[in-house]
Amino acid sequence: MSEIHVGVIGVGWAGQRHLEAYDALPGAEIVALAGLEEQTRSALAAQYGIERHVDRWEDLLELDGLDAVSVAVPTFLHAPIAVAALERGLHVLSEKPVARNEAEARSMVEAARAANRVLDVGFNHRQRGDIHKLKSVIDAGRLGRPYYAKAWWLRRSGIPGVGTWFTTAELAGGGPLVDIGVHVLDYSLFLLGNPTITAVSASTYDLLASAGFGFDHESTKTSVAGSSGFDVEDLATVFMRLEDGGTLLVEAGWAAHRSDGDEFGITLYGSKGGAELIVEDYAPSGSLTIFTDDDGVPAETRLTARPGRGHRAVVEQFLEKVRAGCWEEHDGAGAIELARIVDACYRSAAEQREVRLVDG
Ligand SMILES: NC(=O)c1ccc[n+]([C@@H]2O[C@H](COP(=O)([O-])OP(=O)(O)OC[C@H]3O[C@@H](n4cnc5c(N)ncnc54)[C@H](O)[C@@H]3O)[C@@H](O)[C@H]2O)c1
Repeated sequence: MSEIHVGVIGVGWAGQRHLEAYDALPGAEIVALAGLEEQTRSALAAQYGIERHVDRWEDLLELDGLDAVSVAVPTFLHAPIAVAALERGLHVLSEKPVARNEAEARSMVEAARAANRVLDVGFNHRQRGDIHKLKSVIDAGRLGRPYYAKAWWLRRSGIPGVGTWFTTAELAGGGPLVDIGVHVLDYSLFLLGNPTITAVSASTYDLLASAGFGFDHESTKTSVAGSSGFDVEDLATVFMRLEDGGTLLVEAGWAAHRSDGDEFGITLYGSKGGAELIVEDYAPSGSLTIFTDDDGVPAETRLTARPGRGHRAVVEQFLEKVRAGCWEEHDGAGAIELARIVDACYRSAAEQREVRLVDG
């Protein structure tokens, strides 16, 4: 395959990142665009020289000459669009979370297998330079065996609007756990070498949102039909048991009485050393510190990392998979596991008990 002809579905924040990335990379041409906001869509089509642009995703999939699509729309549409696109023989790059739940994720992977096409899910945070720097420290053995990690993404007032698709369980699949927590889970498992999670114990809260606190009044997200206003959590906390006896704690919150702004990161304790990465307000590179013991003297090393390439790396890897040709290896199966873990967390919170993910 020489030039890969792509269509981008969605012209919000995420869709615009996909457009930038395809435009910047060699070997791909954006040939079609879909999105309901006519003005934004036309402006983007003009900016990127895209001749064909339509409002509904169904109309985009009817166009000829497409090899692949990016799906950057509200989460409830990921599975229907991905399945329809795969059935038409197109490769699919879906935004995170893969879908609202495991069943939808599974239907997408099955469609990718049946069509023998690539299904990929974009996790841009694991592409950060500071995450990769920390991964190289762990892989070099500087922390010994990591046995405990706490990872978080927390905001003070970051609920994305009232009555938006983000705040509607039926449209989003959940609140911050499935929105930003899934990034935290993805980069944590990447750093820990993909351990199996054997059990989860979660709690979710909506005390602040239900009291009208924590909404991001500058959010550009608009209310949508079918929304009940707010019926998801504003904070989720999860205790996860790992197969090797380790523990991973995850906190994901859009709102809390805490320091201002938006912060994500991870703290890791290992048998030989510890590490802490804190990223405030989307800084291109976070503050990364390694804690070791230097002949009985506690030592701290501050590491610097280059900014990562985010969506550009996500899109580049997707294009490489499409070009590589062995598509059966890239059916998106990993996404089922993340969706299964998130489902188990919501079940644990609803039933107020630990939920096991493996037998025994
Ligand atoms: N990777 C990241 O860091 C990141 C960040 C933000 C959002 N996301 C993900 O990207 C996806 C979109 O989020 P967003 O913030 O861009 O949302 P958004 O609400 O800003 O944009 C959604 C887009 O989907 C389009 N859309 C809705 N229904 C459609 C239809 N029937 N046909 C065609 N287009 C339709 C809308 O017109 C809009 O352009 C979500 O899955 C979200 O989780 C990922």
